[in-house]
Amino acid sequence: MTNVDFVLDAKPYAADTFTVVPVLQEEEPTLLGSADLGLSSDRLKALGVSGKAGATQRILVAAEHGEGEAGVLLVGVGKERNLESLRRAAGVAARALCTVNDVTYDLEAATSDELEAVATGHALGAYSFERFKSSPVEEAQDSSDQRVGLPSITSEAQAALAKARVISDAVELTRNLVNTPPNALVPEEFADRVVAEFADSTVTVEVWDEPRLIEEGCGGITGVGQGSANAPRLVHLEYAPEDAKAHVALVGKGITFDSGGLSLKPAGSMVGMKFDMSGAASVVGVIRAAAILELPVRVSGWCALAENMPSATALKPDDVITMRSKTTVEVTNTDAEGRLVLADALALASEAQPDAIIDIATLTGAQVVALGDRTTGLMGNDELWRDRVLSAAQSVGEPTWAMPIPEEIREKLDSNVADIVNAKPGDRAGGMLFAAAFLEKFIGEDAQDEPIAWVHLDIAGPADTKSAYGYVPKGATGVPVRTLIETLSTIA
Ligand code: BES
Ligand code: ZN
Ligand code: ZN
Repeated sequence: MTNVDFVLDAKPYAADTFTVVPVLQEEEPTLLGSADLGLSSDRLKALGVSGKAGATQRILVAAEHGEGEAGVLLVGVGKERNLESLRRAAGVAARALCTVNDVTYDLEAATSDELEAVATGHALGAYSFERFKSSPVEEAQDSSDQRVGLPSITSEAQAALAKARVISDAVELTRNLVNTPPNALVPEEFADRVVAEFADSTVTVEVWDEPRLIEEGCGGITGVGQGSANAPRLVHLEYAPEDAKAHVALVGKGITFDSGGLSLKPAGSMVGMKFDMSGAASVVGVIRAAAILELPVRVSGWCALAENMPSATALKPDDVITMRSKTTVEVTNTDAEGRLVLADALALASEAQPDAIIDIATLTGAQVVALGDRTTGLMGNDELWRDRVLSAAQSVGEPTWAMPIPEEIREKLDSNVADIVNAKPGDRAGGMLFAAAFLEKFIGEDAQDEPIAWVHLDIAGPADTKSAYGYVPKGATGVPVRTLIETLSTIA
């Protein structure tokens, strides 16, 4: 892991630091740093510098401080200078300079929002997961610490850096949980990690083990978990500041490994199914950030944790289970398990009557088919909250797209023997929307008998990436942690 230490008032172009200069892609590429560097457009052309987003070139210039030469990394920001293009450029620079101990950015006339974007992008790009490597790889030369300088001294810059730190730490926490292999993060271990994480915090954590889950009628979570040697858990977090202006419940799918159960996945589709607890891991990261930022919003977290395995005790296709809400479900496919564990957690979240419920889940392969690898599918029952989350996602650069829950899809939930089915075998139409329609059945009502406002985020594609891009290294992405922190910040 590269520990990035940010400092203000750093001096770029010194002999002992590597200076990053963002380059804008205009008719002639434009260096966005404060120094001239003697790079005419002809010389930039000769170096192959275009400013194209993600492109990097290393050059040497005469040092402005100290003797000798200073290393410079020119990094393309693309055609527009905005927060996301700077965040991405900084992430690219961080990945390119992961073996360098001292890095300084030169960005002329940077606003504090831009500094926050650069710091966030750099910290997120510098992330690597090495816990399971027998020898550390690609670390900074002398130690695993990297000093990253920003040439500003204002108090706004200080605050911007502090915020970037909290947000990137939250994403790191989520990514670490998600990247952890499934043999090292069974439901019990996940719950223990959450308890340890909040030991010295104002956030309270309660864990329900399997007997308690049975006692509480959580037939979805215990049903999915019953095929595994590693028993299921439910983790309930509460961050409840006195000045809370609203109460939001976050519900996360936490399948620590999804084999499909008796409706077994093919071998190729099973690889990567450790990521199936990304929703639950996001809940943990967001609540930690909310508590550290002292956001005036009560945030309840519900992590529904189980391992979905085939065995003599596993749930079978055709089984009927009774959920926390007393709704009965005919299980037609044991690989549609996420909706079963979420159903109980959504019912529990509803019982506390929050102003809104947001669930996060790597729920359907259909999400990836519909929206691709990087765009989260958003569904729900409330325009105000939908727009809040969409605009938060837009401002932090996490692509998110609203999808409908059409009436004809709701009708497909009908079961011959139970209240509803969990899947429609053989019917692939609108699989992401069908899953949302299922979840909607478990959203409770408020004091006016109206459904509680609910937003569902299907992150099956965006939760992880097979190749690095911008500030996202390979593996767990930490999506949608920043969207949700921003959402909570805007209500605050
Ligand atoms: N965890 C998967 C969804 C998934 C697929 C996440 C690909 C990430 C990448 C989920 O539990 C699942 O298997 N869903 C099934 C549902 C189907 C059986 C109705 C699916 O999408 O195929
Ligand atoms: Zn599944
Ligand atoms: Zn799953």
